[in-house]
Amino acid sequence: MGFEGTGYGKAILIGEHFVVHGARGIGIGIPRKTTVILEKAPSLSFSFECGDLLKEATRKVLEKVAHGTGFVVSVTSEFPVSAGMGWSASYCVALARAAAAAAGKEISDKEAAKAAFEGEKAFHGNPSGIDNTLAAHGGVMLFKKGREPEPLLVGGKFHFVIANSGKKGPTKELVDKVSSMRKDKPDEYCALEEAEEWLVDKTIDALSRGDAVALGRLMDENNVLLARLGLSTPSIDDIRGIALGNGALGAKITGAGGGGCVLILAPDTGKGEEIADKLGKYGAFGFLIE
Ligand code: MEV
Repeated sequence: MGFEGTGYGKAILIGEHFVVHGARGIGIGIPRKTTVILEKAPSLSFSFECGDLLKEATRKVLEKVAHGTGFVVSVTSEFPVSAGMGWSASYCVALARAAAAAAGKEISDKEAAKAAFEGEKAFHGNPSGIDNTLAAHGGVMLFKKGREPEPLLVGGKFHFVIANSGKKGPTKELVDKVSSMRKDKPDEYCALEEAEEWLVDKTIDALSRGDAVALGRLMDENNVLLARLGLSTPSIDDIRGIALGNGALGAKITGAGGGGCVLILAPDTGKGEEIADKLGKYGAFGFLIE
């Protein structure tokens, strides 16, 4: 008999990288999930090819929730790995929930996020915790390290499209790269962080007023900051160009960058479908938050 758990994918609306260093960020749980199935077994094994990091992360989460690692682990996901949609976090949350089911325990979203954080540390070294928070809770959340995540008021409909640049964005390397820049050029980094915090306030306001035009502009401004951190690529620029040239209100790197996905805001569902169509080669799909 199998024990099942699921976790959401995520998109970061503002604040990736800055959240690692204590700034606020805003993320969205996306309606695409990862599902883990655990079957009891004498020792830990996997029904899929995986590397040492995933094995280590799996052990950490299982020990925390199920107090043992005797399982065969299977996983399926509705979105790709290393693409900025929080695959590792959604895997860890799904695993924590499956492990709780196997141990016959209730697990709250907060507990699932906490257990998943142990796995995220194995995957990424110094994660902020935003990805596992969104993977467990979903919704639209204001996040700051060390604080309770805060669900945000969404006062209208926002039509998003996500497109995948196709190149993997290795989170750990990119987080290390930004951390080094922060150390080597503290004045430049601080100016960017100050701008990011200002954008967070404006983003909270635009979300609450249901103002998609303002939100699109803020996403573009956030992308300028991320590009200054050296996180853009020619494919990301190409996706943004196609999206903005076809009526998108804004488009930005989402997640670690250096490849991975672009989050695009469309004015309505019809335009969103058109933009996703134009970005077909980038595996684009749309979703709504309201
Ligand atoms: C990755 O989705 C988001 C980063 O800010 C890393 C983190 O917050 O742990 C790049």
